[in-house]
Amino acid sequence: MTKEEKYQNLLPQIQSLVSGETDTIANMANVVAALHEAFGFWWTGFYFVKNNAQKNTEELVLGPFQGPIACTRIPFGRGVCGTAWQRAETIVVPDVHSFPGHIACSSASNSEIVVPVIRNEHVVAVLDIDSREFGTFDDTDRRYLELLTQNLNML
Ligand code: SME
Repeated sequence: MTKEEKYQNLLPQIQSLVSGETDTIANMANVVAALHEAFGFWWTGFYFVKNNAQKNTEELVLGPFQGPIACTRIPFGRGVCGTAWQRAETIVVPDVHSFPGHIACSSASNSEIVVPVIRNEHVVAVLDIDSREFGTFDDTDRRYLELLTQNLNML
């Protein structure tokens, strides 16, 4: 099965999985599990944009994920996740070691895609996927993962 066919099979399944449930955390947890299982990624998870009252600033905070333990907080503009949040656009990184400021939560990760979840023109979360292989992600991943995060009524 091609990557395209995998996404075409998976997206309707994910849609029906979350359509009967209104709880955001429960739906996000199932979304990352479905993606992680279907593709065998190294790490698949969401970070939420949250206010840090102590610092009087917003930052990314770890949400539902599958894979090894990860960094819990990421500042605006830092790493691939913080940069995708800042730019409000998807970032595909074929080799994380050459991305300036990449945050290595796991040394086993070699490529990455981060897709911002945008609601009312604001980034409210990011979907971060890491792979142990180089160059795992391309425009097909970008297209389907953007479709997924835009259409899912989970936030
Ligand atoms: N590598 C990410 C940090 C998150 S972890 O990989 C799960 C980054 O540079 O933003």
